[in-house]
Amino acid sequence: EMMKELLGLSTLEQRLQSKLGVTKVIVVSGDSDDNDWVKHEMGRAAVLELNSKVKAKDVIAVMGGTTLAAVASMMTADTKMKEVVFVPARGGLGERVENQANTISAEFASRAGAEYRLLHVPDQLSEEAYSSLRLEPSVQEILALIKSAAVVIHGIGVAETMALRRNSAAKIKNHLSDDEAVGEAFGYYFNKNGEIIYKQRTIGLQLDELDQNKYVISVAGGHSKAKAILAYMKNCPSDVLITDEGAARSLLENE
Ligand code: BG6
Repeated sequence: EMMKELLGLSTLEQRLQSKLGVTKVIVVSGDSDDNDWVKHEMGRAAVLELNSKVKAKDVIAVMGGTTLAAVASMMTADTKMKEVVFVPARGGLGERVENQANTISAEFASRAGAEYRLLHVPDQLSEEAYSSLRLEPSVQEILALIKSAAVVIHGIGVAETMALRRNSAAKIKNHLSDDEAVGEAFGYYFNKNGEIIYKQRTIGLQLDELDQNKYVISVAGGHSKAKAILAYMKNCPSDVLITDEGAARSLLENE
């Protein structure tokens, strides 16, 4: 804490709390766009936050991405975690396997000494496949677990980057740029006012199910994500934002 004072990080945290309207903001030093270890520092902070909130038998839903992969890699074993279950928050969203929510959830569980459950859903789902898959008993079982989650940990991405990474169709990319999408989270794309421009179809947690009963931990850093973070925080729930100095300074520019 004293170190944070010296680095001026506490001031950044307070200013961000009031700018974004988030109760708690944690800023780690550095910029994850420039140095990869900064993601691990955000990961360390996210693990502390998670451990302080989680109770025996809780379900923890996690999203994908390189940031969440870094968070999972910092997870430590805890006896309290023995009966905890990690689940992916949503199904396939077109990520490489190491960045998929399923993989990351299993990684969290194996490091924590917890349980995990997988949600097998293909990336590209037609309306028909989506409707029938949702009715599968095995899918329903894990969906019920996901919806019961006490804690949700997720990343936030730059809209254009995410559409590229997911190999989205040209039609979708054009729609996102025409409607000025800037941020993405949970497969939802937002404009700078936080309005939803496009939503990727998949099974799992929907944005409007992130209610008061779920403790939402948002983890995103790097100066390039400033606009995306701001867009997400306009309308979407977050109980704590864990970010880095790069994003924080960029978010507070021109104030
Ligand atoms: C994806 C999530 O896996 O990761 C997105 O589905 C999120 O919702 C993204 O925005 C963040 O990725 P990264 O690599 O920037 O942490």
